[in-house]
Amino acid sequence: MTHDLVVVGSANADLVVGVERRPGAGETVLGSDLAVHPGGKGANQAVAAARLGARTALVGRVGDDAHGRLLTASLTDAGVDTAALRVGGAPTGVALITVDPSGDNSIVVSPGANSRLTPEDVRASADLLRSAAVVSTLLEVPVETVAEVARIAAAPGGPRLVLNPSPPRELPREVLAACDPLVLNEHEARVLGATAAGRGAAEELLRLGARSVVVTLGADGAVVADASGTAHVPSVKVDAVDTTGAGDAFTAALAWRLGAGAALREAAAYAARVGAVAVTRAGAQESYPTAAEVSA
Ligand code: RIB
Ligand code: NA
Repeated sequence: MTHDLVVVGSANADLVVGVERRPGAGETVLGSDLAVHPGGKGANQAVAAARLGARTALVGRVGDDAHGRLLTASLTDAGVDTAALRVGGAPTGVALITVDPSGDNSIVVSPGANSRLTPEDVRASADLLRSAAVVSTLLEVPVETVAEVARIAAAPGGPRLVLNPSPPRELPREVLAACDPLVLNEHEARVLGATAAGRGAAEELLRLGARSVVVTLGADGAVVADASGTAHVPSVKVDAVDTTGAGDAFTAALAWRLGAGAALREAAAYAARVGAVAVTRAGAQESYPTAAEVSA
């Protein structure tokens, strides 16, 4: 096994402005100075796992531009293998983010180069994917690309698949059936067909075909469900500064622990601690802790 975790996913430059409150339609508000942070759900997961000590690679695409160089530098500094990060074809993805005084964010993503990551790009990295204990992906790249990742994972000897269906949309049945686990919040669960909240949503998604499910509940922790049953995992109470990317740190930590052989509940409890540290600091990738900081 050459990698603990391979992430197939997005890299975005996060353009962040602090606001007292969000503008409504037709309204203008003044915000703070602009901050530019390396982000994107795929790059965030890769950096989070590498910072914890996982041998990690990112399969993705950035533009041949300053934002692309910002992302590449952040990944490289964290120790992520970027040999399968392609460059060019469109501008680097951008996320326009407002953060309010409670640390909550709203995000609009312009996918740019992320939308040019193709199933062929995934096939070209098939050996890399098969070399990993776990492969993690998400929906800021095309669903056909995610479907190719799921096919490689479902084949004999394939890696375990973790999917965060964000931003949410309906998934092909074969993709759902490969998820072990599907990691999502309650809003995403509804888009995928769950009608209940929390524990009920997790059990519905299992019945819809996922092999295991983790429903994140923000300050209320998470619910984990698999064939052996359903359990609640409590959160760690902290004062939130910026929740941006905390979910990505949670998913990456969960994926890494599962690859190391942890049970779903144990992996989710560890992931909750990683996510809790991430919300106490500004930005996404810059806020991710080392394993030593998590145990402290
Ligand atoms: O999950 C947080 C991420 O979502 C941000 O870094 C932003 O780039 C968007 O992709
Ligand atoms: Na943060």
